[in-house]
Amino acid sequence: MTRPEIHSQQQRENPEPQEGANPVPWFVLLLTALLLAFGIVYIATSSITQIPAWGDGRTTAELQGPAPAAKGAVVDGAAVFTARCAACHQATGAGLPGVFPPLAGSEWVLGKDTTLAAIVLHGISGPLTVKGSAYSGEMPAFKDQLQDAEVAALLTHIRSQWGNQAAPVSTETVAGERQPTAARSGPFKGDADLGPLK
Ligand code: HEC
Repeated sequence: MTRPEIHSQQQRENPEPQEGANPVPWFVLLLTALLLAFGIVYIATSSITQIPAWGDGRTTAELQGPAPAAKGAVVDGAAVFTARCAACHQATGAGLPGVFPPLAGSEWVLGKDTTLAAIVLHGISGPLTVKGSAYSGEMPAFKDQLQDAEVAALLTHIRSQWGNQAAPVSTETVAGERQPTAARSGPFKGDADLGPLK
């Protein structure tokens, strides 16, 4: 049998790679063991309530946000306002000219507490005059989102802010407004519906 001729070009080539059961390199094993040990020690020594040293430093309590108000607890009207109303009526209560009417100095806010409660419960749609200016937007209803006590605290808040000076609104007033108007399905049609309630 003659050996096939091996050309110089073939001799230059590397041998074909072989696959075998190579051991994991020692430094990879060491690194894995170190990371594992670090993880175990870190988890074992850190407590869930402790202020994290790394990251943005917020506590668990801060991340959870304010606890829901307990039944009968005093509701923070300012917080309800910021969460539900400030996006449209602005934190200053001044609204946006031509789009969102002001709550500061508004005859609707300072007027009858029952009408004001009805506005927040059912919303408004259509032409509405506020402080002599005409608006025609959509004010959402809050009857399904806010409890009577929350509406009362909120209205008491907006009636005492930004120079407003009107009597506080009680939970009973809001409850008394919610019941008779419970059947109402749509928002008030601006001045046409609210004018007589002024
Ligand atoms: C999505 C925007 C929006 C949100 C949120 C909103 N409003 Fe309004 N609000 C309006 C618009 C628009 C009008 C005017 C409606 C119209 O032109 O028919 C209005 C009108 C009013 C009025 C009567 C007019 C005036 O300025 O006095 C009161 C009172 C009022 N809103 C209170 C509130 C309160 C309290 C909240 C929070 C619970 C709230 N609004 C949340 C848009 C909003």
